[in-house]
Amino acid sequence: MNRNTARKLAQAVPLHGPAAFEGMRRAGRVAALILDQIGPHVAPGVTTAELDQRCHAATTALGATSATIGYRGYQHASCISLNHVVCHGIPSDRKLKDGDILNIDVTVIVDGWHGDSSRMYFAGNPPLKARRLCRITFEALWKGLNAIRPGATLGDLGHAIQSHAEAHRCSVVRDYCGHGIGRVFHDAPSVLHYGRPGEGLVLEPGMIFTVEPMINLGTFETKLLGDGWTVVTKDRQLSAQFEHTIGVTDTGCEVFTLSPAGLHHPDW
Ligand code: MF3
Ligand code: CO
Ligand code: CO
Repeated sequence: MNRNTARKLAQAVPLHGPAAFEGMRRAGRVAALILDQIGPHVAPGVTTAELDQRCHAATTALGATSATIGYRGYQHASCISLNHVVCHGIPSDRKLKDGDILNIDVTVIVDGWHGDSSRMYFAGNPPLKARRLCRITFEALWKGLNAIRPGATLGDLGHAIQSHAEAHRCSVVRDYCGHGIGRVFHDAPSVLHYGRPGEGLVLEPGMIFTVEPMINLGTFETKLLGDGWTVVTKDRQLSAQFEHTIGVTDTGCEVFTLSPAGLHHPDW
């Protein structure tokens, strides 16, 4: 979610009950199944449009609809962000090359509930520094998820992510953030992936949001391309992202978008 959308969101953060958690479990599972199914199709020579078509077919086959088709004029069932693309890459006839890293991001609607998740994939054999960036990004997401519990703050979550990324000389994108989600695709709160311990919203059971850090090898600055969607790193260095949709529980968080097949990340 971009900063402008974040600014417009109502301040009130919805607290959801057991029926919402049940709905989000089902929607999250479908998003995860699509990301499981697309993995074997990622290979050099395949176009990102082909991958998108497969995501769309999987969405339909699983009885869901895509939340991104028709969202502010977006026309695809996935965002596919290659190499220096930070997020919102548009599927195209561009063929994957050996060594590309890519993020595939899907958001589905099941019985009105939204499941939003993304993972990194490897086409062939990416160079060590690209694989390392992906691993640090995955670890940073989980440092953030592990900071979630009632009484903790969004600043604690952001700080956990930021300290891990920066300890490895990577940077955290500031211009895009995670978001509340439920029956609404992009809701309050805005979930920054950087921050200071103890600052920001105090987490409570029933809050549902995404955590989706975008981590760069170079500086955190981004640039929006002329197509109005594609976000790239200003210095054209590599960027990576992983995303989960979670609900805050009495003791921590429930991750709705875990991979049923255990395909949480590529083999680094
Ligand atoms: N799934 C993205 C997110 O994590 C949003 C994509 S909106 C689209 O919030 F229109 F670009 F698909
Ligand atoms: Co999201
Ligand atoms: Co997403």
